[in-house]
Amino acid sequence: MCGIIGYIGEKKVIPILINGLKRLEYRGYDSSGIGYLMKKKVIVNKAAGKISNLEKLISDYDEDTFIGIGHTRWSTHGAPTNENAHPHFDGGARIALVHNGIVENYRTLKTKLKDLGYQFTSETDSEVIVHLISYFYEKEKSLVEAVRLALHEIEGTYGICVVSSLEQDKIIAARKGSPLIVGIGENEHFVASDAPAILEYTNNVVFLEDGDVAEIYKDHFNLKSLANQQIKREVEVLDLDISTIEKGGFPHFMLKEIFEQPESIQNSIRGRIVLSAGNVKLGGLEHVLDDLINSKRLILTACGTSWHAALVGEYMLEQYAEIPVEVEYASEFRYRNPILNRNDIVVAISQSGETADTLAAIRESKKRNATVLGVCNVVGSSIARESQAGVYIHAGPEIGVASTKAFTSQLAVLALLTVLIGRRKNLSFGYGEKICQELLNLPKKISQILQKQNEIEELAQQFYQAPNFLYLGRGYNFPVALEGALKLKEISYIHAEGYPAAEMKHGPIALVDENMPIVFIATKDSTYEKILSNIEEVKARKGKVIAIASEDDNSIDSIVDHVIKVPNTLEMLSPILTIIPLQLLAYHIAVKKGLNVDQPRNLAKSVTVE
Ligand code: M6R
Repeated sequence: MCGIIGYIGEKKVIPILINGLKRLEYRGYDSSGIGYLMKKKVIVNKAAGKISNLEKLISDYDEDTFIGIGHTRWSTHGAPTNENAHPHFDGGARIALVHNGIVENYRTLKTKLKDLGYQFTSETDSEVIVHLISYFYEKEKSLVEAVRLALHEIEGTYGICVVSSLEQDKIIAARKGSPLIVGIGENEHFVASDAPAILEYTNNVVFLEDGDVAEIYKDHFNLKSLANQQIKREVEVLDLDISTIEKGGFPHFMLKEIFEQPESIQNSIRGRIVLSAGNVKLGGLEHVLDDLINSKRLILTACGTSWHAALVGEYMLEQYAEIPVEVEYASEFRYRNPILNRNDIVVAISQSGETADTLAAIRESKKRNATVLGVCNVVGSSIARESQAGVYIHAGPEIGVASTKAFTSQLAVLALLTVLIGRRKNLSFGYGEKICQELLNLPKKISQILQKQNEIEELAQQFYQAPNFLYLGRGYNFPVALEGALKLKEISYIHAEGYPAAEMKHGPIALVDENMPIVFIATKDSTYEKILSNIEEVKARKGKVIAIASEDDNSIDSIVDHVIKVPNTLEMLSPILTIIPLQLLAYHIAVKKGLNVDQPRNLAKSVTVE
């Protein structure tokens, strides 16, 4: 969380910084700020709230300034106020810093610095870094040296950018635990937390690694380690198009991403299915395939929506790849004593590839000698790079804070993994082929569901004022109930619970009355009859039932209050279809409530703090 942008070159910097911040706003939107060098001074503008508030402060976008840094904040230490917004200054307003991460020992450092006479103007942990840099600058008279020495004092995580009136020809950037890339243009360089911020200027980037300190000039940059050793990193060319990070006519990124799912699923499976062999090919796993086949247990670890995908993966892998699976909240995993055996494989699932909890879980697993595989969306992300092998889901950039297309692509990739392992075990050619064929059929079926948008919008109109919702499902669709409830909670602020439908009678049924909307995922699969009984139990207590049902189910209409039909598919793939109406329902409810769908309160797209 928090987004960072930096620029040095021949273009006027203010529009580049503001533009970059807008592209990074999904990482946090509590406050924003920019700092640039002009007339031998560092000028800082910052404002609480959205970037639009910052824009109001800027009187002239055309100022002659060609070096600057910017920040969009997701608050951790200190309220979202002007004072706590970045950049932060040193005492003499000569050095300005933006920071993404958490300085865990900031209290100790702050006390020491205060004792030395340094004055703090914010409640943030970040401000200690800039005062430390200033402290070391007095001794070293070199900005990069001062940054390096300051970072030696920091416990915790950081991605930082620093500019200074003391050395006006450079930006210093460094990372540990928070992502940063350096973009390379012609006579210009960029720094950013994430590619979308700079994609319209360059596709050539260097991914900084933990411990890297970059001294960035207009026409070159120099990369060293914290220990002052020279480092060489490859320039990578991003295969991303600017149109993929724009709204393309949709009112919100979330809606655009929901509607992209026929294509994103296609991209997730493209080139990976070998229909004639009833099998799949996952290049990134080839060198660990034998380990996978021989492993005694898979541990799927993730957070939020990705954790829900992992739960579906557990059902798939246990049923068709015959491998025991455990699903772990990454945030809990390392705070107990996870017993990892020699033949265990840990699979980390993450859209962003930057989630701090998931990263911590994979580092813990590696410490315990487990093989770690990554299932990520963002190419070159930390989790992707720290995993020993992995698969990209290729869903394309997901900007809306509520994850949608990444979820369905994660499920598609977990299905591919299931076939890959299953076919080396007892999964027959025939069934392998059936799964593969059905994966290929999914984009068309998703398009059919998307055509029901108006129907779902009408439903949203009826229910958007409900204070609570229950989501119930069984088997493969129990995780869909969790995910449907999460989508509603995060963007509409309506309290929603997801439960296994059969658990309802053990407690949640007490909540049911004529005011309670209950969404049942009730497709015709192995638990259909049981689900029907659960629906009857709710109807007997006057609950309002919305069912997601199979297209050929004609009898359910008379039992429930509302029904949305989805095309038939294999049970293991049904979550890829049943979640779509729930994404649309949450979206339209939030829109009817007049809420900011893409930037729900208190959330950030990429949660890079533990
Ligand atoms: O990037 P990741 O998949 O690791 O993110 C995990 C969660 O933070 C994320 O899924 C979160 O729950 C989303 N806001 C859900 O819509």
